[in-house]
Amino acid sequence: MAQRNSVPGKTGVKRVKIIGTGSAVPDRVLTNFDLEKMVETTDEWITERTGIKERHIADEKTATSDLALEAAQKALKDSEIEAQDLDAIIIATSSPDMLFPSTACLVQSKLGAKKVLAFDLLAACSGFVYGLEMVKGLISSGIYKTILLIGAETLSKITDYTDRTTCVILADGAGACVLTVSDDESEILSTYMGSDGSLGDLISLPGGGSRLPTSHKTVEQGLHYLKMNGNELFRHAVRAMSSAAEKALERAGLQGEDINLFIPHQANFRIIKATMDRLGISMEKVFVNIEKYGNTSAASIPICLDEAKREGKLKRGDLILLDAFGSGLTWGSVVLRW
Ligand code: UT7
Repeated sequence: MAQRNSVPGKTGVKRVKIIGTGSAVPDRVLTNFDLEKMVETTDEWITERTGIKERHIADEKTATSDLALEAAQKALKDSEIEAQDLDAIIIATSSPDMLFPSTACLVQSKLGAKKVLAFDLLAACSGFVYGLEMVKGLISSGIYKTILLIGAETLSKITDYTDRTTCVILADGAGACVLTVSDDESEILSTYMGSDGSLGDLISLPGGGSRLPTSHKTVEQGLHYLKMNGNELFRHAVRAMSSAAEKALERAGLQGEDINLFIPHQANFRIIKATMDRLGISMEKVFVNIEKYGNTSAASIPICLDEAKREGKLKRGDLILLDAFGSGLTWGSVVLRW
């Protein structure tokens, strides 16, 4: 049976653009001062080492699909698109509601988007830029026209709040974009993605999969919580993000100075600063909101995009560079004209 969203015969390469954004974070705010009461840390340490002052944390009843749904509804409204107009829904997440069905299918049902392609994409903090690469391929092929791409996480659900090396940075949130065929100057100009699985141990969720199925033992050992060697990751993050940005710029035929706004994954302010120093980019051109949201993994870049748009920081024709790094290891950079 022919797929509803396939368009036989229309296979010329299409250009792809973002037509709307939305984001959502839980109401509950966890400040550095709250964390001082939970683990041996200080507001001063967290602020100096990460740039984070507070983060939003979901309550017991809120799962990733709830935040994803709210961000999606806002992005659809912003795009003036109905859920029925969508051809696909992709959710980048490392903290799905459950292993299956996918969080994308849960959101598809709640949105009432009929018969769309729906799946989750797992590339950790690089998930949203990996997703843009997928969406670009699907739309430019002419087979899919309009796609909802969401980055959504409730990392608090996989965080050990007795481990000060992770609980001070991880947070919850969702950001969404609607993308479609471009008929004007706005488009994704270039992408560059990479991975290195040999360094997968640096940040992982060891328990609950087929290697270490959930058992009393895995729970006793805390293997259902995210584990991270932050210091080692830091070095790889700066190297991978600066190199990915350089390669994406080269593919677009652009220089760093041509870019109007850099939107890096908000992992740590010092990683962002070191990456921009390496690229020779002034921090005035860099969008940073980590102080309010912490590290929301796949959600961080789409939350930034939505906030930058609402603050009037994205002007028609502006050149934007997105840059991410995360577990896998994975990394990726996207250059687009707004
Ligand atoms: O999202 C993508 C994937 N994630 C990342 O890219 C995260 C990258 N890494 C980081 O953001 C940073 O490495 C952290 C914020 C996680 C840690 O900062 P750091 O400057 O690399 O600290 P460190 O691990 O080298 O630790 C320095 C000291 C240690 O104490 P000693 O051994 O020097 O006595 C830690 O035990 O700071 C201690 N420490 C803390 N102290 C107070 C570690 N965490 C804390 C804390 N509060 N929360």
